[in-house]
Amino acid sequence: MIFSKITATGAYVPDMVITNDDMSKIVDTNDEWITSRSGIKRRHFSNGENTSDIAARTAEKIIQNSGIEPLDIDIIIVASVSSDYTTPSTACIVQSKIGAKNAVAFDIGAACSGFIFGLSVADKYIKTGVYKNAIVIGAEVLSKYLDFGDRGTCVLFGDGAGGVLIEATDEKTGILAEELGSDGDKGMALTGGFSPASNAFNKFNSNADRNLRMDGRAIFDFATRSVPKSVKKLLDDCNFNYEEVDFVIPHQANKRIVEIISRKLKIPMNKFYMNMDEYGNTSSASIPIALNEMVEKGIIKKGDVGVITGFGAGLTWGSMLVKI
Ligand code: ACO
Repeated sequence: MIFSKITATGAYVPDMVITNDDMSKIVDTNDEWITSRSGIKRRHFSNGENTSDIAARTAEKIIQNSGIEPLDIDIIIVASVSSDYTTPSTACIVQSKIGAKNAVAFDIGAACSGFIFGLSVADKYIKTGVYKNAIVIGAEVLSKYLDFGDRGTCVLFGDGAGGVLIEATDEKTGILAEELGSDGDKGMALTGGFSPASNAFNKFNSNADRNLRMDGRAIFDFATRSVPKSVKKLLDDCNFNYEEVDFVIPHQANKRIVEIISRKLKIPMNKFYMNMDEYGNTSSASIPIALNEMVEKGIIKKGDVGVITGFGAGLTWGSMLVKI
C-alpha cells in the first residue's frame, strides 16, 4: 500500500506584529479581555503582502527544506478563504512564482479546516498512485476581511501561511487515518465575503459584505462538541490507544476551546501545542504554522504519532492521525 509521508514543512508570517495594546488603540478592547477569553497576545498583519505572496514564500521554504526541484512538484493545493482573486487560484499564482511548471494547481475552501481537507485530497492522489508528491499550503491574509469596528471578531484573527510536502512511500507513515465532516445547516454562524447575485438586468442589491461575521458563542459550542467527537472517532476507528498520542495540534482559535477538548478527550494539555498567543487565529494556516514550528524547535521528531484537528466555517471539521 502507498502512504503519504510528510517530508518537509515550511511557514511564513508577515513581519508586522500587532499587540493587544495596539488593538486597544483602534477598538474598545483591552489586553486582559483578549488574553483571558482567547489566549491571544499578538497577531501578525500583512504590510501589503497578499495571500499568494505569503503562500509562495511558504512554498519556497518547503522546497529549501526538502531539496525537491520545482519542476518535480506534481500538485500544489492552497487552502484559503482570503485569496487575492476569485480567479486565478492562489495555487496557480504560487505555481508561477516558484516555477513549478509541471504541477497541477488548485485551491480548496474549507476555512479553518482547509489545510486538513487539502491534505486529505492530496493524500488520495498519492494513495491511488496518480501523483508521487504534493505541496499543501494553508495561507490567509484575513486582516483584509476584518471589520475593525467589530471588537468581537477583529481581535481574534491574524495573517500567515504554512504548509507541507508529502511524498509517496511504501513505509506505513505520514497520514495514517482521517475523519472529516461538514454541517452546512449551521453555516451562517461564520460568514465572510458575501457577494449578492446582482447584475445589469436585476434590481441592484447592495448587501455585499466582504467582512468576517461570527456568532462567537455558536462557534465555541460547535468546536467544543465536534472536535472531541471527531478525534474520538478517528482514534477509536483505528483502535489507536489515546496514551500513545505523542502530540495534538489543534486549530489555533482559542485556548479555552483547546482546554475543553483536552478535558473531554482525557489527553493531557501538555500534549496540545498552542501558539495562538503569537499569531492569533490564522484559519487554514494555523495547523501547518504550528507543525512547522514544532519541527523547527525539535518538539516533534521522526517516528512521533499525533493528531492534527481543525474546525471552522462551513461549518467543517477534520482530524488526522499522522506519523512524522
Ligand atoms: N474586548 C472587550 N470586550 C469584548 C470584546 C473585546 N474584544 N468582544 C466582546 N466583548 C464583550 C461583549 O460585548 C460582551 O459584553 P456585554 O456582556 O456587555 O454584552 C462580553 O464581552 C462578552 O461577550 P461574549 O461574546 O459573550 O464573550 P465570550 O466569552 O463568548 O467570548 C469569543 C467571545 C472569544 C469570541 C468566544 O465566543 C469564542 O472564542 N468563540 C469561538 C470563536 C472561534 O473559535 N472562532 C474561530 C473558529 S472558526 C475560524 O477560525 C474561521
